This record gives sequence, structure tokens and C-alpha cells, in this order.
Amino acid sequence: MPFNIIRADITKLNVDAVVNAANSSLLGGGGVDGAIHRAAGPELLYECRLLGGCKTGQAKATKGYDMPCKYIIHTVGPVWRGGENGEEELLSSCYRNSLDIAKDKGCESIAFPLISGGIYGYPKDKAVEVAVRECREFLKDNEMDITLVIFDKGSFTAAEERIGEIRQFIDDSYAAKHLENEQMRAAAMNMAGAAPMMEAQKRSKLFGKMKTSAAKPSAVPDAMVCEEAAVPEDIFAARDESFSQALLRMIDERGMTDVETYKRANIDRKLFSKIRSDVHYRPKKQTAVAFAIALHLNLEETQSFLGKAGYALSDSLDFDLIIKYHIIHGIYDIFDINRVLFSFDQSLLV
Ligand code: AR6
Repeated sequence: MPFNIIRADITKLNVDAVVNAANSSLLGGGGVDGAIHRAAGPELLYECRLLGGCKTGQAKATKGYDMPCKYIIHTVGPVWRGGENGEEELLSSCYRNSLDIAKDKGCESIAFPLISGGIYGYPKDKAVEVAVRECREFLKDNEMDITLVIFDKGSFTAAEERIGEIRQFIDDSYAAKHLENEQMRAAAMNMAGAAPMMEAQKRSKLFGKMKTSAAKPSAVPDAMVCEEAAVPEDIFAARDESFSQALLRMIDERGMTDVETYKRANIDRKLFSKIRSDVHYRPKKQTAVAFAIALHLNLEETQSFLGKAGYALSDSLDFDLIIKYHIIHGIYDIFDINRVLFSFDQSLLV
């Protein structure tokens, strides 16, 4: 999965490079910097002393020492001073420079903390926005697994206004469903008198074609008594196109390339090739939804496409409703959707 957001302790992650939110001395400090120095051991400080500090927005690499990663990339985020002092550009360049170093070192995976999002006071939602934007830009032309690690999710709020709207959308859907159930229950109660009659009709419809044993010629085996039990020989003849076939057809119809598709879907190249080469490949629901988003399908098209992998979007699950909300509002940016899914504690689209 090219881009993921998780809640974890970054010092424990098994990735090629871990980014450290350092200060310009590069000699350690509090927050994630302190945690990384503790986890890597004293040798890290020896190497850091040789680096001669680092300017805000720049990045420098050391070895990983006792951490599971090969490299630690130290970058210095800006201190938040109200947002009018070039903070955004400096924070963006922290991500860009760290990613460039990781690429030069041949890293296939990297994990970022929310740079400047702690002691340096950058508003967390704005810091997440910059992080997601820079990772998305980088992934347009590069292949790497990038993980954004959010440590203290309690104070994490993504896309404020939309979060509120989605919460409302979810509540409204649940309320509508509840009302519908109530109405159905009331209707069922009203019909209660007619129920025995309907049951009898249903039974006779179901068993109407069953021949009685008395009427059955003695040569006919029991298994053939019920006509409806006979299995047609070509039960699979009416099989619809598979998920993989539908996906490839729609990519062609839209004139999209494979690369464009898997990048837009936040799916890694290997998984895409697997789906491409296996006509019966059955993806996870998140993967199927990711492709629906990449293809910009509307709600009806999405339901039909998901159906090919045996899935649907219901009105009973938060994940499904969040996806519905974005499709209905024409929001097909998977990075943005993942940011929202993360803040609702849902599985991300990968
Ligand atoms: N794993 C992942 N994220 C963490 C961890 C961890 N183990 N620990 C903290 N965070 P901060 P800054 C999160 O303050 O704002 C240091 O003293 C934390 O919750 O570490 O860039 C340096 O030496 C927050 O969301 O970095 C500098 O002087 C994010 O990491 C200064 O702090 C960044 O918070 C840098 O401040």
C-alpha cells in the first residue's frame, strides 16, 4: 500500500527509513526526537554530532542503530508562529527533502511522524494536510510505501467541516433506516391477520410442484421427485464478468493507463499485476472500493462493480456511509478519503 496512516510508536516500525522531527542542533530533544534517540541508543548521538546541525526545512540521514530501520532521516520542522512566516513551505520541504534522501538511499518504505505537530505547535489538521499533500505529490512519480504515524489521535481532526457533515450524514442514514424498520414493523403488525393465509399460499407455491410419492412411478428415484431440486447442467453459464474483467474493461473505456489507475487507487504495483493476471481474483472490500474511487464511479456503478467481488455499500456501516458520502459529493481523492476514514477509526483504502 503506497500511502497509509496509522496510530503507532514510530520507533517500533519495520521500515527502511524513519523520519525524526528534530531541532536544528540534531543533538536530541523531547517528543519523537527523544523517543528515537532512546530507541536507537547512544551511537546515534555520536553520528549526529558529526553532521553539524541542520537548517529548518532540510534533512540529513544517519544509520538506524538499535531501531529496526536502516536509516533515520532527521528533519527540522518550522515552529508555528501564526502561519504567516513561511511555515507551510518549510514544512512541505521537510517532507520533500526526507523523501528525496530516502529515494537516493534506495528505501522502499518510510515512516513519518507528524512533523512540527507537537512541541513546535503546528496545528495538527493543517500539519496532516501538508503531510498528505506532499506524500501524494511524491507518489505520483515514485514507488514507495509511505506511512504517516499519528501518535496522539485524541487531538487529531481531519478536514474539520467535512467531518461534521459526514457525522451528520451517518446519523441521518441511521435515523432513516430506523424509521424504515419501524414502518415495516408497523406494516407487518397490520398485516398480521392475513399472515396465516399468506403462509399457506407461500407453502403451496413452494411445494406445489412436488409430486406426491403416491403419484410417482416406481422407476423414478427419490432425488428426482422435486422438479425444483434438479440442478441445471450449465449453472455457471450465466456467470457475469468477473471483478478483474470489469476493472480492466472500465480502465480501457475511460482511456486510463494501468499506472494512473493503481496510483489513483493507492494500490501497489504488485497487487495490481496480480489482479490483472488473475481473472478470478477476489480483492478485499477496501481494494474493490479503492478501484471504484479511482475510476470515479457513481453510486449505482459502484454498487454494481462491488457486487462483482461479492460486496455492497450498506447503510449500516460507518465505513460504507463514509464512502457513500464522498461518492455522492463527487470527492474521489483517495488520500483525502483515507484521512477522513482514519479520523473515524475505519480501515483505509489500500
Ligand atoms: N511515535 C510517533 N509519533 C510520536 C512519538 C512516537 N514515539 N512521540 C511523539 N510523537 P514533536 P515537533 C508525535 O514534539 O513538533 C523535540 O524536542 C507527537 O505526538 O516530537 O516537530 C525536537 O528536538 C507529535 O504529533 O516534534 C524539537 O526541539 C509529533 O510526533 C522539537 O521537539 C511531533 O511532535 C520538534 O517539535
